[in-house]
Amino acid sequence: MSDFDPMEAMKKEFESYIIPPSWKDRVWEINEYRKFHEETVKDKKSIEEWWERWANELPWFKKWEKVLDDSNPPFYRWFVGGETNLAYLCTDWQLEQGRKNKVAIIWEGEPVDENNEPKEVRKLTYYDLYRESNRIAYMLREKLGVKKGEILTFYLPMIPELPLYMLAVQRLGAKHSIVFSGFSAEALAIRIIDAGARIVVTADGLYRRGKVLNLKAIVDEAIKICEREGHKVEKVIVVKRIGTDIPWNSERDVWHHELMSDIPKNVKVECERLGSEDFSFILYTSGTTGKPKGVQHSVGGYAVHVYTTMKLIFDIKDEDIFWCTADVGWITGHSYVVYGPLMTGATTLMYEGAPDYPDVDRWASIIERYGVTIFYTAPTAIRMLMRFPEEKYTKHDLSTLRIINSVGEPINPEAWRWYYKVFGRENVVCTSTWWMTETGGIITGHSPGFGKIYPLKPGTNGFPLPGIKMEVFDDEGNPVKPGERGYLVISTPWPGMLMTLFKDPERYIQVYFEKYRKRGWHFYTGDFAMIDHDGYVWVLGRADDVLKIAGHRIGTAEIESAIIKHPAVAEAACVGKSDPIKGEIAIIYVVLKKGYEPSEEMVAELKKHLRATIGPVVASDALIAFVEVLPKTRSGKIMRRLLRAVAEGKPLGDVTTLESEVAVEEAKKAYEIVKRALERT
Ligand code: WTA
Repeated sequence: MSDFDPMEAMKKEFESYIIPPSWKDRVWEINEYRKFHEETVKDKKSIEEWWERWANELPWFKKWEKVLDDSNPPFYRWFVGGETNLAYLCTDWQLEQGRKNKVAIIWEGEPVDENNEPKEVRKLTYYDLYRESNRIAYMLREKLGVKKGEILTFYLPMIPELPLYMLAVQRLGAKHSIVFSGFSAEALAIRIIDAGARIVVTADGLYRRGKVLNLKAIVDEAIKICEREGHKVEKVIVVKRIGTDIPWNSERDVWHHELMSDIPKNVKVECERLGSEDFSFILYTSGTTGKPKGVQHSVGGYAVHVYTTMKLIFDIKDEDIFWCTADVGWITGHSYVVYGPLMTGATTLMYEGAPDYPDVDRWASIIERYGVTIFYTAPTAIRMLMRFPEEKYTKHDLSTLRIINSVGEPINPEAWRWYYKVFGRENVVCTSTWWMTETGGIITGHSPGFGKIYPLKPGTNGFPLPGIKMEVFDDEGNPVKPGERGYLVISTPWPGMLMTLFKDPERYIQVYFEKYRKRGWHFYTGDFAMIDHDGYVWVLGRADDVLKIAGHRIGTAEIESAIIKHPAVAEAACVGKSDPIKGEIAIIYVVLKKGYEPSEEMVAELKKHLRATIGPVVASDALIAFVEVLPKTRSGKIMRRLLRAVAEGKPLGDVTTLESEVAVEEAKKAYEIVKRALERT
């Protein structure tokens, strides 16, 4: 499996204690921190006290009666009886604190002029945000009848209208379901139907590496699929970003600017008083089956969690320029481009395009241009930048950076060192924050917000936040010894945790809690990890059939169900293969139907199909290997471990013992067959 080598590389770093010189007088002795952490997770009361302290920093329409209701596990409820609203926290409250004219969002479009300067920059103050989101909320309510509880689907690029629409629906107590704009029509359709959305908000297109991608055409395609499935999308709101001609259905489609043209500048929509334990949004994510899971997040618990991590992990201050490079379509963008920074009154930066357009120093130039102080990105991007000379980046002034973090996949120590050196000048906090769509916010990472730090180690995820207990279990649920590999679990409830899976509470229990049910209620993350002798967590990668391609989370089952829809495909199996830059890429073994032959054209055709059905993230680097048959056990299960071993170029050796049902000879034969197929690709 692809995680053995990372493990060795990380183990070597267990004893690498690094203190950035600028922090040398503010060091937390590890055991002292560990003791402090243990105190916060000692019992339910300690956990409640810890989180209540943070909840008290936020304004509430009505204060909670109970911090944590754990009477019906695993359906935990936080700040029960409390009332608040994410839009209130992100806008109204900021005005009340005197941030009316402070820049809330700096947005930079991708296109550049002949001097490589951005052609478009937009700066929105907190007052702009407040006013525009009020106007949009008003328009949605008065013209389209949007009510509390309704779910709207957003399929938007990285433009300020996305956070504006998010805040507008929060004001109304409506909910959003955002679909990453790199997903295909089919993936979008599945998500629209599952959420039951009658309104979709999109844009005419987006810029990516100098090209225009026509988003609206993808939405049209998705709506056709919805109609075939008996779901009607009543309205498509289109933001004009590009201005090219696009297909139009005048009964259904409506321009955002036309809807807004007669909405007065100063309309106000009272923020709906939402119960803390009401839900704020759903976000679909991948699991081990083909059907995406609608992760449902709360209002109060989510707000407290995201707020706390902004303070502790990012040490956010009023003067910070905060840049999280994630797309808002993923959880990282929800929590750390939009809600977290705005809730803490920071200035958040949004960049529309690719990191290497027009050149690989685009990000460094943005950091320099706005004096970014806190930077949050993905290891895959760091590994891409690493391929070029350091001077590309250091020729820009990066000295404003004071905290640089990564997220989305393990960061190999080598990439960490490069990031720490080139972006961090070997002098700032640099940490890998582990968390998931399901956790709502960051779970592990160094916490400079305390005013002191425990030592950094290259590649580690650090300690869990106070108030959160993590363990590493073996298959039976026994904690493994320090430094040994096992499955990562979260053993205590935390405020940002998902409430349930949308419309599927059974699946919520089954996916996250069934595995260690005999041991109590442990949240199963699906990751392999180690905890070292100091108590630091080291996440090694997924333990299930979920891939992280360039940090994007995609299930192999989703890829398989997309590819078998192609008329030439009889059967398919997908596994991950480690990749030096993307972290992982997909290898898809395909059995063609009779009458179809393997060929380069067929590969191109299948890739095109993948692009259309699942999206470019998977399609661009996928390897397709044609096989006559898929290796299966006698009970008909695909031998995934064998496929993975081949993909990683590992000998069959230890694999056969794992496939108990298949004779060694058969496995060997199958191994050779798929190996040859892969070599041909
Ligand atoms: C992986 C992204 C190692 C992990 C916020 C997890 C990480 C999955 C890290 C969730 C990290 C995220 N180090 N692995 N710092 N952060 N992961 O839902 O495998 O898109 O289970 O959420 O990303 O991916 P998701």
